[in-house]
Amino acid sequence: MSENSSKIKFYSGESIPLELHKVRVVQKLHLVPIERRLEALYEAGFNTFRLDTKDVFLDMLTDSGTNALSDRQMGAMMIADDAYAGSQSFVRYQKAVEEVLGKKYLLPVHQGRAAENIISNAYIRKGSIVPMNYHFTTAMAHITQYGGKIEELLYDEAYVINSKHPFKGNMNLEKLEKCINKHGAANIPYIRMEASTNLIGGQPFSMENFRGVRAIADKYKIRLVLDASLLGENAWLIKQREEEFKNSSMAEIILAMTDLADLVYFSARKLSSSRGGGICTDDYAIMKELEPLVPLFEGFLTYGGMSVREIEAIAIGLYETLDEGMICQSPQFIEYLVNAFEKKGIPVVTPPGVLGAHVNAMEICSHIPQKEYPAGALAVAFFLISGVRGMERGSVSNQRDEYGNETYADMELLRLAVPRRVFTLSQIKYVEDRMTWLYENRNLIGGLKFVYEPPVLRFFMGGLEPIDDWPQRLMAKFREDFGDSL
Ligand code: F0G
Repeated sequence: MSENSSKIKFYSGESIPLELHKVRVVQKLHLVPIERRLEALYEAGFNTFRLDTKDVFLDMLTDSGTNALSDRQMGAMMIADDAYAGSQSFVRYQKAVEEVLGKKYLLPVHQGRAAENIISNAYIRKGSIVPMNYHFTTAMAHITQYGGKIEELLYDEAYVINSKHPFKGNMNLEKLEKCINKHGAANIPYIRMEASTNLIGGQPFSMENFRGVRAIADKYKIRLVLDASLLGENAWLIKQREEEFKNSSMAEIILAMTDLADLVYFSARKLSSSRGGGICTDDYAIMKELEPLVPLFEGFLTYGGMSVREIEAIAIGLYETLDEGMICQSPQFIEYLVNAFEKKGIPVVTPPGVLGAHVNAMEICSHIPQKEYPAGALAVAFFLISGVRGMERGSVSNQRDEYGNETYADMELLRLAVPRRVFTLSQIKYVEDRMTWLYENRNLIGGLKFVYEPPVLRFFMGGLEPIDDWPQRLMAKFREDFGDSL
């Protein structure tokens, strides 16, 4: 029987995601007073990306590069082979990719978006269309940067916040065929499928659906690209939710998924709990098309912009992705938090997905119009009253259209990321407690406006300010209710 925490029942009947690891290296955290948190928000332009970690208690901004490293990964990093060319660390990385992802050729890149840059550079021309289940910010930015456009082809159910649909990340197969017929296969350099569709709340797609996409790709002779940054969790949820795979191993599910794609790329900052990235394929011609771009943008073909230590950690991390006890930890903590929120009536994306709990700011802040960024407002309000840093995943994260007009997001979410094996259950309970208070005081949250807006990926470095003194009023209420609590 596979070893994972869903298999461990408590005598009390409570459903608790028991940690199957012990903590051996720790980092001290600080919870600074709310008055300092408000100052920090002004310094950060009311953008949680611009906060300093010295002011942050629980960093739930992202899982990217923040997952806990294992003792085996740290050990491997000490025996890395420093060499500009022909490093044995790279040979171990290649072997891990071949064994875990089943692909022969590996091109190393320094992170996920570097893979997106290379793939877009090779295949996107003005007028290219890339159908996808849903965009990710950096994937879309690179495609549009090279003159292409994206088409998002989810089923309607994907946009339903409270759903029981197990696979909201599925590609709408009817829409995909329509899209191909409308634009012509010649204008579609590839179809992009994103495992555990990030921006709709970390929602997986099913193997059945992916097979359907493959069949259409074959029919029209279009490449199929898999963004595997969150592959492990998607595979875990396939095992939980798709009958055919309930007795399969993680290794079998992952290989079945990657086997369907012509080209697989990933952010190893997410996929293998470390840093870096990769592009892999079994197709020699594809490899040869992309290969020259690696030394141009990234570095020599055996390091691709990464340190050899990172490369060693990726290789071990890939093997660890096959361990159910490891891969289930984040989704099960997320499920715990999502269920706790639901019990308190706090609107949150369901079913629980991967990466984090996604709180529905559109509903919590229904008094804030989308042009005043309800998800951005909720993100800063939550940081103010808790010291917990989440990430806005709504209209601030959207890019303007080609005419410079604001495009409003389908969903206004506050993402509270749960990186793997980083937080304890009492910290998760703190998040639940403070969000419950904020929900009860939601009418005190107000809107935001941009004061500085970068032209690309504006959410990273953009500066905003509150439309009035609502943060001060929220802070006063916190003091009234919590006294001198931090
Ligand atoms: N694809 C997906 C699905 C991602 O989630 C990310 C990053 C990337 C590509 C880009 O990878 O950051 O290594 O360049 N997601 C992070 C997040 C930033 O917070 O969700 P990268």
